[in-house]
Amino acid sequence: MAASGAEAIVTTGLTKFYGKNRGIEDVSLHVAKGEVFGFLGPNGAGKSTMIRLLLDLIRPSRGAAQIFGRDTHADSVAIRRSLGYLPGEPAWNPDLTGAELLDFYAGLRERHDSSYRTELAERLDLDLTRRMGQLSRGNKQKVGLVQALMHKPDLILLDEPTSGLDPLVQHEVLTVLREAATEGRTVFLSSHVLSEVEHVADRVGIIREGRLAVVETIERLKSRALRSIDIRFGRAVPAGAFEGLPGVKEVTVREAFAHFTVEGSIDALVKAASQFEVLDIVSKDADLEEIFLTYYRNDEASA
Ligand SMILES: Nc1ncnc2c1ncn2[C@@H]1O[C@H](COP(=O)(O)OP(=O)(O)OP(=O)(O)O)[C@@H](O)[C@H]1O
Ligand SMILES: [Mg+2]
Repeated sequence: MAASGAEAIVTTGLTKFYGKNRGIEDVSLHVAKGEVFGFLGPNGAGKSTMIRLLLDLIRPSRGAAQIFGRDTHADSVAIRRSLGYLPGEPAWNPDLTGAELLDFYAGLRERHDSSYRTELAERLDLDLTRRMGQLSRGNKQKVGLVQALMHKPDLILLDEPTSGLDPLVQHEVLTVLREAATEGRTVFLSSHVLSEVEHVADRVGIIREGRLAVVETIERLKSRALRSIDIRFGRAVPAGAFEGLPGVKEVTVREAFAHFTVEGSIDALVKAASQFEVLDIVSKDADLEEIFLTYYRNDEASA
């Protein structure tokens, strides 16, 4: 299948077995140019395998992948030039300073933009004069990110870019990625947690035991996601006051404490709760696990 000019990534039945071990199986996916795509899944789901296949660091057992319309294996050298990559478990030379490491990578590449590199280091609050071996995990991760982004590649492949970063830096990284997409560049990033990518990704794919369980826009995924809400009331409340409210899937009331699971809007629940004295309310966004469960439930319902 030929990729159209608008596609950054096309995979067709992409499958990787490590001997008998399943890496990924039958992954067919399109990522448009200029899109930020979040690739989500639990440990061992196949995220790193997918990214390594796209980079042609490992070969598929079956299926194929194209980047900007070119076969990732046949045209791997040409494709590499347009890529930036952050590995999931980088092993940088501990004796190099951050600046030396970035110089090394800049030397391998045709495109240079030292002002952008400086800008990135400043925005991520990164000291490039220290040796990699002396940096904390998060600061090493920042050097890896600048390495992947500094040449403004057309496709940015990031394996868990936000892991180990503090919230402010994490936010800045996501802002940088959004800017790249605004410039028409494409971002493919993996994560365990939807909340880490939901503000930056246009669409997400959820991979489960090597198979793509769903590809969906963030908007649609959220509307189907379950949220967990705990409310502490001033005194015991009757469970009946919350039965049958729109979107409320589960109600557990124990005297003055109530736990709810809500799909979509929490408006009806909040209004029903407001007839009692509310001392505290804790709302937790659905995590990845709960979204998986939503999909399992829907699968069962339609089966
Ligand atoms: N070199 C390898 N040899 C054998 N099996 C492997 C190898 N690399 C990965 N696997 C297996 O392939 C499956 C997918 O692994 P992968 O590293 O792609 O998962 P992941 O989604 O990146 O997980 P994590 O969130 O832990 O990084 C796992 O079952 C893993 O054990
Ligand atoms: Mg991984």
